[in-house]
Amino acid sequence: MPSNHDGFLPAMSDIAREAGALLMHYFHQHLKIEYKGDADLVTAADRASEVLIRERIRAQWPAHDILGEEQGLSDQGSEYRWYVDPLDGTTNFAHGYPVFCVSMGLEYQTAQDRASGKAGRRIAAVVYDPTRDELFSAEQGKGARLNGEGIQVSKTATLKECILGTGFPSHKRHKNPNIHFYHQITLRTHGVRRAGSAALDLCNVASGRFDGFWEFNLNPWDTAAGVLIVKEAGGKVSRFDGSAFEINSRETLASNGLVHEAMISELREIFAGRGLEPLPALSEYQR
Ligand code: IPD
Ligand code: CA
Ligand code: CA
Repeated sequence: MPSNHDGFLPAMSDIAREAGALLMHYFHQHLKIEYKGDADLVTAADRASEVLIRERIRAQWPAHDILGEEQGLSDQGSEYRWYVDPLDGTTNFAHGYPVFCVSMGLEYQTAQDRASGKAGRRIAAVVYDPTRDELFSAEQGKGARLNGEGIQVSKTATLKECILGTGFPSHKRHKNPNIHFYHQITLRTHGVRRAGSAALDLCNVASGRFDGFWEFNLNPWDTAAGVLIVKEAGGKVSRFDGSAFEINSRETLASNGLVHEAMISELREIFAGRGLEPLPALSEYQR
């Protein structure tokens, strides 16, 4: 068993940068939009980026497991598992809106932990935004960085002074309650941004650009990297009720730590029914 997990980040960063360059190549070509379901988009770029990332991982670490959004899980029983989102922000990408990234998180779980059902730990992460040439990275216990410089979460301590991020899935939108949360939390803060890339939203919390973020129903490839980057930047990540975040949690609440309890209490009140009053008439609103 390895005594430490040093040495992954430089190679991971190179892979993410290479995949990001490939995405930019496609981005400038205005790709045809394809559908995975009624509203779920996929492009040739998503697929090509995952092929490239898998090839690079395989070349250096042939025995490692990989879970990628487009090709699913290749499970070889390794202690290492890569969570790969080859293009996070596909809807933006497909519409020519330049907010998207490559996200790669690496997890380590001993065979013993796997057998006993104990969760693995994320040990290294990179999120690369090729539109701004920004590479966010973190190693467990070693802090978080943006293009090599250390980053920290914000120091905002009251919710009313916060700027937050959230997201809405393309899939099963009508069943997602987040619009109520968006509405209520917008009224109580400096605002809620909905930029369309969960991995970048998490990195925005890590670098202090956002004070917090929440989203329902994210997948492991969306969160594996960003969650480690937030924690290593001094932030906090949990489920909506404050309980521990796990890679398969369907609730992601991230913050600078200082406003975490306030966010939990907002979410609790909205779940309990606050904010379901009827909309004002247009004339009333305009007064
Ligand atoms: C999506 C983005 C988006 C989030 C969705 C995700 P994709 O990932 O992260 O911000 O709101 O829930 O599915 O499909 O662009 O990789
Ligand atoms: Ca994604
Ligand atoms: Ca994706």
